[in-house]
Amino acid sequence: MSDLLTCTNITKRFGGLVAIDDVSFSIQKGETLGFIGPNGAGKSTMVNVMSGYLKTDAGKIVLDSVDITTMPPHKRVHQGLARTYQIPRPFPELTALMSVITASLCGKDRKNQSFEDAAGDATHYLEFVGLFSKRNILARDLTFFELRMLELARALATTPKVLFIDEVMAGLNPGEASSAVKMVVKAKEQFDLTIFWIEHVMAVLVEAADRIVAIHYGQKIAEGTPDEVVNNDTVIEAYLGKGWRNYA
Ligand SMILES: Nc1ncnc2c1ncn2[C@@H]1O[C@H](COP(=O)(O)OP(=O)(O)OP(=O)(O)O)[C@@H](O)[C@H]1O
Ligand SMILES: [Mg+2]
Repeated sequence: MSDLLTCTNITKRFGGLVAIDDVSFSIQKGETLGFIGPNGAGKSTMVNVMSGYLKTDAGKIVLDSVDITTMPPHKRVHQGLARTYQIPRPFPELTALMSVITASLCGKDRKNQSFEDAAGDATHYLEFVGLFSKRNILARDLTFFELRMLELARALATTPKVLFIDEVMAGLNPGEASSAVKMVVKAKEQFDLTIFWIEHVMAVLVEAADRIVAIHYGQKIAEGTPDEVVNNDTVIEAYLGKGWRNYA
């Protein structure tokens, strides 16, 4: 496998708080990289920096040999980067279909794409996530689970190379959470994705991730196979606790 996305010496400060502190890692093409750490460790900040939502204070981000460090978010999308949000961010006044059409028109393969083509693509992604029957419902009237699936459909419609998942399970009941996880795994297979995946439920990443990076107070504390990381003493001390398997 080759590196698809490389973050080198990334630092992000909020005033006096160093949310990301000199963190480096790579995501290889075709892999699922899990990203873990306690609440406030800096996980979402890392996604915000990689996606261009926030500017990094130091370091370099390279996607598929292109330096995207200072690119605005929409150009990063054109380069093949997509994300979901920990708390869904719908366009409340757009229907599910229009939301995904919008994403399709803004995506990586948007050049020369007609509205009709985008509508066809959007329908396909809504079917994929199980929202076809909700296509004419306004986003503000969807359930929380449906909003999560809409986020996924929107991200997929931009035809990304790398998809950042920031806690697909958060706020869902156990049945919905399990469906959401299965949907991410299915999307990876079907659309040949590389995935950067933040989740607090370790059992999910132990199963789905090829490698895991752990952070604590913005610093990388471990990197390795799921087995290596969940047995790492520093990770157990900082985050998992000794009995984590009992609660997974
Ligand atoms: N826009 C911001 N302005 C100021 N501080 C911020 C901002 N975003 C995040 N922080 C702070 O940066 C730190 C890292 O936050 P972040 O949201 O990245 O954590 P996280 O690892 O995603 O946590 P969680 O597991 O709870 O989602 C926290 O102390 C948070 O309060
Ligand atoms: Mg977060």
